[in-house]
Amino acid sequence: MAKNEFLFDLKTPETTWRGSGKHFFPNGQEASEAGMITSAEGPHGLYWCLDTIMHKVPEEYMETWDMPHFHTRGYETFFVDSGKVYIYINGQRVLCQKGDIVHLQAGQAHGMKFIEEVKWRGTYHDFETYPESRDVGRVKRYMPELADDPELAACAPRGEMDNTPLEHFLYKDVPVEQCLAIKNIARPWASYDLPGCSVKVLVERWENGGVKELDCAVMEPGFTAEWVKYPPLRELLYVRSGKVKFNILGQEFIADDECVVSIPRFAPHSLEALEHSEVYDLGGQSYWSLFFQSYEYIRTKEPERLTPETVEALKKKFQVQIKSIGYKK
Ligand SMILES: [Fe+2]
Repeated sequence: MAKNEFLFDLKTPETTWRGSGKHFFPNGQEASEAGMITSAEGPHGLYWCLDTIMHKVPEEYMETWDMPHFHTRGYETFFVDSGKVYIYINGQRVLCQKGDIVHLQAGQAHGMKFIEEVKWRGTYHDFETYPESRDVGRVKRYMPELADDPELAACAPRGEMDNTPLEHFLYKDVPVEQCLAIKNIARPWASYDLPGCSVKVLVERWENGGVKELDCAVMEPGFTAEWVKYPPLRELLYVRSGKVKFNILGQEFIADDECVVSIPRFAPHSLEALEHSEVYDLGGQSYWSLFFQSYEYIRTKEPERLTPETVEALKKKFQVQIKSIGYKK
């Protein structure tokens, strides 16, 4: 069967990753392996998604290892999908585990210590990457005898990504609920209930330099959504848990837990939740948060204005591409 170009099942990295790279601890043990899911696109480098396995920090480094760094312009959002990791940020240290989401802003110092093996899925934007690093990597791959040559290392002095190391952190241990950088669908900025679907606003646009937002639709079985005929915005969805049937360009398939679904622009598509499912909008281009704020204000304070024309106007204003939703129990 031909490979489904819209579906990336992160449960099977061997068939899903389009190339990968490894990092190592100073003792030579593997620290991480990152696989490319979708690449960056456009001036803000949106839709970039990497699936990384972060290995447990070896005992000999457990005391001191915290990877302190910052990015001058890049933003990162990580899904913690297994294991446990300490996050150092805003003078705090918090313990994150499966279900948590770590949102890191440009210029914000952060670090992490993986105390168990962690499935660490990330989306990034406005990240500068330096292509000379990949070319140096190729030399090392083909000619491993040159891997430790300082002259070769000097060809890529900036590394692969805009990433500036810092001194270790001073911090205070706090519960995860007290750290603004750690998101979870249990603690959204706002939550909006529709028949068969609850939309959680997790990362607002102002936490992303105005470029995107992160929302999660928690769907019940029988919830359906149909997009406008030729949606102008590309979408990247992450079915973090559950089971959702998609129809994209007439191709029907099921995405279950840990599946990324890439929906090209102009592609007619629809979905139906088959189980209780968490679906995250990784592309984050529709202004869902502002759409719902406006909709809820009108619905509760000036309901006489809530006509189909008003809703259509709101959808247009906030680039909402859904034509209709349904719920059959
Ligand atoms: Fe980072």
